[in-house]
Amino acid sequence: MREGKLWINLRQAMDTDPVYKPIFEALISQLKRLNPGFSPLRAYGGILISSPRAQVFFHSDVSETLLLHVKGRKRFRIYPPRAPFVDPQFMEAILHKTQTEDVPFDPAWDEQAAQIDLDPGAFVSWPLHAPHRVENLEGLNVSITVEMVTPQSTLQNGVYHANGVLRQAGWTPRTASTRGVQAYAKMGLSRAFKAYQSVMGAPSEPAPKSETTFDVDLAHKDGLSDRATA
Ligand SMILES: [Fe+2]
Repeated sequence: MREGKLWINLRQAMDTDPVYKPIFEALISQLKRLNPGFSPLRAYGGILISSPRAQVFFHSDVSETLLLHVKGRKRFRIYPPRAPFVDPQFMEAILHKTQTEDVPFDPAWDEQAAQIDLDPGAFVSWPLHAPHRVENLEGLNVSITVEMVTPQSTLQNGVYHANGVLRQAGWTPRTASTRGVQAYAKMGLSRAFKAYQSVMGAPSEPAPKSETTFDVDLAHKDGLSDRATA
């Protein structure tokens, strides 16, 4: 763990483990108290443990995220949630599960990124869908992640999902705006399409985050071996 490039995500450890769950619930209720109007529909907490040299490549998450840093040092780079950093069509594809959350990256974009170095006790958050990448700087890294579904993220993701449906039908959506009646109409379309898919038994793609693509292998210099090339 300290030598390789392992990155372990104990998903939902904070909201299911009996030791951590009360801490997580207290955190969420404190966030609600301090931020009037903040009303997550669902919140999930994970524990990230990663090697001193591990990194997380450029990607865009579908949920609102908060990272509370506990141990080690890491560098966050956060990019604006718009083209060219993240193309609307990529968000549509991620939500249609035809693509993973990894999106194309150009190192020249670093100049326009917000760079934030995290020490233990610091936290970071970013606008919905803002792409980001992370490099560990020092020591074994431990962080708590909070993934939240909010009314706003549900509406924005519904609009992107519906735009993807329209694009499949040959239309080119002109906006991913969440304002006005058209946004709610798109959310209705998105829900109807998902209901249709579940009735028709749409082929279920493996969730990218749940794919097993490697095995822990301490004999390997990175601490893991890739299943595809093993
Ligand atoms: Fe992320």
